[in-house]
Amino acid sequence: MQNDSVVVNSWNEWDPLEEMVVGSADNACFEPTEPGSRPAVRDSPGMPFPTGPKSKEAIDLANEELDGLVRLLQSQGVTVRRPAPHDFSRPLTTPDFEVENQYCSVCPRDVMITLGNEIVEATMSRRARYFEYQPYRKLVYEYWNADPRVRWTTAPKPSMADGMYREEFWDWPLEQRHERMHAFEFCVTQDEVVFDAADMSRLGRDVLVQESMTTNRAGIRWLKQHLEPRGFRVHTVHFPLDFFPSHIDCTFVPLRPGLILTNPERPLREGEEKMFLANDWELVDAPQPVLTNDEMPQYCQSSKWLSMNVLSISPTKVVCEENEKPLQDLLSGLGFEVFTVPFRHVFEYGGSLHCATWDVRRTGTREDYFPRLDYTPLV
Ligand code: ARG
Repeated sequence: MQNDSVVVNSWNEWDPLEEMVVGSADNACFEPTEPGSRPAVRDSPGMPFPTGPKSKEAIDLANEELDGLVRLLQSQGVTVRRPAPHDFSRPLTTPDFEVENQYCSVCPRDVMITLGNEIVEATMSRRARYFEYQPYRKLVYEYWNADPRVRWTTAPKPSMADGMYREEFWDWPLEQRHERMHAFEFCVTQDEVVFDAADMSRLGRDVLVQESMTTNRAGIRWLKQHLEPRGFRVHTVHFPLDFFPSHIDCTFVPLRPGLILTNPERPLREGEEKMFLANDWELVDAPQPVLTNDEMPQYCQSSKWLSMNVLSISPTKVVCEENEKPLQDLLSGLGFEVFTVPFRHVFEYGGSLHCATWDVRRTGTREDYFPRLDYTPLV
């Protein structure tokens, strides 16, 4: 450790990467059906979604690709850490709910976030993921013990009782969904504080939070209340054409100061683009993914837009899935050195390169990339 650099230090999505946690598929299970999630076999409506542990073959294939990412990051001088083993096949019983098994530790991004020198463990929004912070606790203690400047916060755990959810959400016909999309009503009510870490995106002083199926307005309010006194500005963003929004990193992906990779099928709500344009940020649409939604892995619950879930090693180096040639070309054209790794077997675990990682330390300090900003703090 350098004398003046905090062990935990990451202010944005692109500064030069020093230490990163990469997920693991060990002991992964299928996500269970629960009020916050209705997993379905792709293109086989009515076919029951598998339950319990994933096959050894599926786990090995994903782990091979995760290990490939680890090797690439190490070759770039990044220290890589991995989650501790966890038995995801164990059922959970709390005073408020029961669920037959847990999920996996492939996507640390969903649970853990570094905001400067602070680690925040998200509340999570689904029962099977209630204890997903556990595989990372050993690391958190290590960082927290290593440097007194490291802050550690666990967000309040919601009950995840039946009443926290709006289960009819899953049965709304498309027309009704279209109507309700402007009210941003999803499967979670506003009664408790709910957020997944992956609904946030960090741009120095400014943090974006997507209102979604996995983050509600109470969750965003908690984040504002927590982060504003620490000097952050928290901006709620919406992508009204995404009927099943969850996690911002396949929709709106900052690549370097002044540049965001955007999803051409999920524009920002009108008006929300202003803060970017007024501060000379450029929004560049990602090309169509190589796979169509129908071609995505059978058990994958995410969309084809996992294509744009890229991982920045620095403001000039980015890692892309190896098959996504059109995106690679776009990024090269924008001046990036593009690294590629195969990652399609990781898709069925809900994420790609950005989801499967959690950055603990990048060089750099907190910058203001939005000097011309109209911002009203909570209090
Ligand atoms: N909901 C996104 C989509 O299907 C997938 C987000 C994955 N991100 C993550 N951090 N797990 O487009």
